[in-house]
Amino acid sequence: MISKKMEEALNQQIEFEGYASFLYLSMATWCDSQGLKGCTDFLKRQSEEERMHMLKIFEYLSDVDGFALTPGIKEPPRKWEKVQEVFKQVYEHEQKVTASINKLITLANKENDYATQHFLQWYVNEQREEEALMRTVLDRIRLIGEGPQSLYFIDKEMDALNQAAVAAEAAGGEA
Ligand code: FEO
Repeated sequence: MISKKMEEALNQQIEFEGYASFLYLSMATWCDSQGLKGCTDFLKRQSEEERMHMLKIFEYLSDVDGFALTPGIKEPPRKWEKVQEVFKQVYEHEQKVTASINKLITLANKENDYATQHFLQWYVNEQREEEALMRTVLDRIRLIGEGPQSLYFIDKEMDALNQAAVAAEAAGGEA
């Protein structure tokens, strides 16, 4: 059994994760239109991960006799000025998600809801990994700089990061 307040808060998180999934898909589509295949594949995979994060909450709410609401997701932006801006926004969005998970844990603590506290620990680890990954991305983009061939090298880096994540997943580890 879960409290109404906790259920509502988890439903808000469902919406947050769903928006992240659509935002990254929109970013992938824009990268594709710019011919950036590595960036496109990276962002599509991130979009799928966010969908999985969303669905995990559906499953959890079902387990604890709650009710998951399928969110009406607002339309994400469609265009960006440059690819550097895309990844800066991904990092900022991940920081917001982390803050939101922390708030959920504060609420679960207040309610002595140990099951939800335990469930949310998975997200704590996931957010630590995602923020670290996005900091790596931003560091590489900064090192490559804004020279004439920077887009080519950024795309190559993103392809390499994506391949590494796919290989880690295939090996049974976390991406
Ligand atoms: Fe599910 Fe990357 O936040």
